[in-house]
Amino acid sequence: MYIPQDIIRDKRDGNPLTQTQINQFVDGLVTGKFTDAQVGAMAMAIFQQGMANDEKVALTLAMMNSGTVLNWQNFIDGPIVDKHSTGGVGDKVSLMLAPIVAACGAYVPMISGRGLGHTGGTSDKLESIPGFNIHPSLDHFKNTVKKIGTAIISQTDDLAPADKRLYSIRDVTATVESIPLITASILSKKLATGLDSLVMDVKIGNGAMMTSLDDAKALARSIVDVANGAGVNTSALITDMNQVLGKTAGNAVEIIETVDYLTGKCREPRLHQVVMALAAQMLLASNIVQDLQQGRALAQQALDNGKAAEIFEQMIFELGGSASFLTTYEQELTTANVVKDICASQSGFITAMQTRDIGMAVVALGGGRLDHHQQVDHSVGFTDILPKGTQVIAGDIIARVHAKTEDDANNAIAQYLSAVNISATIIEIEPVIYQEIS
Ligand code: URA
Repeated sequence: MYIPQDIIRDKRDGNPLTQTQINQFVDGLVTGKFTDAQVGAMAMAIFQQGMANDEKVALTLAMMNSGTVLNWQNFIDGPIVDKHSTGGVGDKVSLMLAPIVAACGAYVPMISGRGLGHTGGTSDKLESIPGFNIHPSLDHFKNTVKKIGTAIISQTDDLAPADKRLYSIRDVTATVESIPLITASILSKKLATGLDSLVMDVKIGNGAMMTSLDDAKALARSIVDVANGAGVNTSALITDMNQVLGKTAGNAVEIIETVDYLTGKCREPRLHQVVMALAAQMLLASNIVQDLQQGRALAQQALDNGKAAEIFEQMIFELGGSASFLTTYEQELTTANVVKDICASQSGFITAMQTRDIGMAVVALGGGRLDHHQQVDHSVGFTDILPKGTQVIAGDIIARVHAKTEDDANNAIAQYLSAVNISATIIEIEPVIYQEIS
């Protein structure tokens, strides 16, 4: 038995922690035997000294075991797989991916997060669907996954409670940006859902947590190594967040884009590329296909034959929404009072987007939050967003704003226009997918 300051001192001085010390730290997080000051000091020591892979594995497993760990054995006979994204603006990929992969025969129990700061959250997007309960009981969640192949719900207090306290202290001690701590935070929650395999979508760019490729690679490598070390078959894709993903950013507007994507009405090409790449990785990791090409073909088939759309609708019904959402969604979803065009102020090519600023413009409209207690207005956001590389002439619509008031709309238009560059000459646009890490 160590006293907290001995464990902190060991880490501060650069000594690797033993499993016993790590278990004691996590126990201290849950029981309060580590005070806030001691947790903060420990987080800073980890931030400064880093952690070896086996320390990160031990921290992840201890945090995972601090709460309920789902077990699908003797309940579901099939591969259990999930995807996690480090987040961005317009990232509605989970909403499409989960039903697609379920339609191909895997089971996807997905725990999603709320938006914070410039990044949106899948839980908030789902809450714009009338009746949708993102907090069902764990039994209801498990039964839904068993019945239809997937369920997407919000983070619960039962899963990895140690992370909740550690994260709230990291948030106020300038230790959020530690790769070992981000790794353990993400994976403790994900692995608590009892996965066989996981695919990470590590976003890179001016709208992502990681703004440099080196940092994105380091995080992807850390997560892949730790998750595999913890026994979960994991790979990662590094994908672009130097522009909004898809044509919308907000909550209800992203649900509309999701339905239009699943039903084939509109599939924005960059978004489609990310969804297909991740679906193929998930199907390969689940041994449903032999290679990525087959995975892509199977995922495309699940879209084309309507099965993925059907599963999305069933999931909404099972979790409290209407039974016919695919036909009634436009009447069901809340709409904003004011909708205005955002027009190009000059002719040329869209060459840059300050993606983070566009995310913050959604927050300013009321569609996101700066602290965990804020309420979200599901109706607001941006639609009809034109991607980088598009040639426009002055006056063309480059996006539309959905706002509560005329003033909000005008402010958002000014923010959007200053976040987008239009230049006379085209420049090279970043790839959609940078790298796969396995
Ligand atoms: N997301 C998490 O869940 N945890 C982190 O530490 C960072 C992002």
